[in-house]
Amino acid sequence: MVDIHHHLLPGVDDGPVDIELSVAMVEMAVEDGVTHIVATPHANNAYEYHRPSHELLLQQVREALPDRVREKITLGLGSDFHLLFENIEEAKADPAKFSINGKGYLMLELPDHGIPRNLEEVLYSLRVAGLTPVLTHPERNATLQSSLEPLKSWLQGGLLLQVTANSVTGDFGKVAHRISNLLLDNNWVHFVASDAHSVGRRNPRLSPAYATVAKRRGEETARRLFLENPLAAFEGQPLGEQPEALHLHEDLEPKSWWRRIFGSDS
Ligand SMILES: [Fe+2]
Repeated sequence: MVDIHHHLLPGVDDGPVDIELSVAMVEMAVEDGVTHIVATPHANNAYEYHRPSHELLLQQVREALPDRVREKITLGLGSDFHLLFENIEEAKADPAKFSINGKGYLMLELPDHGIPRNLEEVLYSLRVAGLTPVLTHPERNATLQSSLEPLKSWLQGGLLLQVTANSVTGDFGKVAHRISNLLLDNNWVHFVASDAHSVGRRNPRLSPAYATVAKRRGEETARRLFLENPLAAFEGQPLGEQPEALHLHEDLEPKSWWRRIFGSDS
């Protein structure tokens, strides 16, 4: 499996506090069957993103790994990109700076509350600059949890979606679980990733979510979301053929939409 969202670097954000913990996270991932990890430190007002320093830290993590672990894992660098004006301008000017291995896929996080009004314009401008935006964990965003309608036009515009492994298994709460199932069932998901921060509750294990997706949507879908698509992102290659996203073009009333999703829960 290939994990494209993982807060692996020590001491740079709210991930591991030291390199020993980073090594423990890689060991846990490798034991779980993960072969590639993209370190994605936050790039926001709280955490400055300085790619050369991050590259250096990643190399230190590589060197700190026991040989038996190092030979089983490939580490790469991306970012957890927040939609700040300065970030967007920098990404457009230097598309390699924040993207996965500098090859174009950009993990993009929405603010916790509210959706920027000009988001479609921003997505378009990032795409024009040669980037492929991937929206991280929409199932955990409070605004999207109350209505998934905005996702439709973004998906039609080519936006890719990543859901969190712990949402798929239900460990991120009932709402995130229900919404990730809905996204999966409608073929709106392109990637599942750990968004790991530690070896505790937010750990890097992907296999429980893989098994859940394989059971719900079949082995082929699990392979696509945990292996084929994220490997393409890791290598900067276009994704292979994806199944058609369902219910994108229907003008659904919010009420009937909610009834479809939640049935008697609505
Ligand atoms: Fe993250």
